[in-house]
Amino acid sequence: MKTPRKSLALFAALMAAGVSTALAAPDWSKAPTTNVHVFHPGVAPLEWVSGKGEHSGATGLKKGESCAGCHIENGKLSLDVKRLLSKEMEPKSAPKVGTYPVGIQAAYDASNLYIRLTFKAPAGSGDKSDKENEVKATIMFPNDKVPMGEQVGCWASCHEDVRTMPGADDKKTKYVKEGAMDLMQWRSSGKSSDGSVTTKRNMEGGKAGATAEGSKTGDTYTVTFTRKLAGNAALAAGKAVTFGVAIHADHAGGRFHHVSFNQTIGLGADGDVKAVKQ
Ligand code: HEC
Repeated sequence: MKTPRKSLALFAALMAAGVSTALAAPDWSKAPTTNVHVFHPGVAPLEWVSGKGEHSGATGLKKGESCAGCHIENGKLSLDVKRLLSKEMEPKSAPKVGTYPVGIQAAYDASNLYIRLTFKAPAGSGDKSDKENEVKATIMFPNDKVPMGEQVGCWASCHEDVRTMPGADDKKTKYVKEGAMDLMQWRSSGKSSDGSVTTKRNMEGGKAGATAEGSKTGDTYTVTFTRKLAGNAALAAGKAVTFGVAIHADHAGGRFHHVSFNQTIGLGADGDVKAVKQ
């Protein structure tokens, strides 16, 4: 009875060693966690937020203020989430949960940025169009050519005429007017995407070599992304990079995600999330 047990233990040890080498996993116990609050955005595309008379932030936006600058105070959302779930902003079907926190950690080395998300994906989605995936987690990084990329994060790609917006063309995906965003996505069905957003959304052929791994323990998802510092958005030690995160919970598709405002990751620099050097 001793031999099989021993070989099992050895096998387990080899597996553990193999897995950690393959992923070059950072020591997450050394990376601080920042809670970023994602929310159901309703129908509030760039045209709405920058439109005269509809959104009182539009004037500040023109002067260069960022979404997060007005809507996040001491790490908390300053936003009328009830309004976002009401018929005024969500004409189709609102999710049961308007907002929830996503724990974000980050680390970097000479060639990669690592990001770990920890969250409980709420049930009660208002849209269950993604039959294949219960949950998807996506992060995007605008490069410096994207108009207002640093100021608005993902909103630079969120337009009134894209799929799942009321009355829009179902083939038209999100886009930016100039520049490019890196897009990386983890899907609970097991696939992940290294993509980009240019004049359309591309789920493949990204420049950041992104990979993603995820698991669920109890009701908590842990998703780890690895991307190169190189990409459409060029990341570098000593600098902060703008990003936004989106979670599609409970089989939600299209715009029925919970999203963050523009946030930053400081690579050994100041930022909403501080990436530690490994
Ligand atoms: C100068 C400050 C300012 C900026 C910048 C700003 N907002 Fe607002 N925003 C407001 C104020 C004030 C309201 C509430 C009153 C209203 O509806 O106009 C609001 C309302 C909203 C609402 C509706 C929910 C609510 O609380 O009433 C959404 C969604 C929103 N903003 C998103 C954004 C996004 C996305 C950006 C960036 C692209 C942004 N805002 C930039 C000040 C700002």
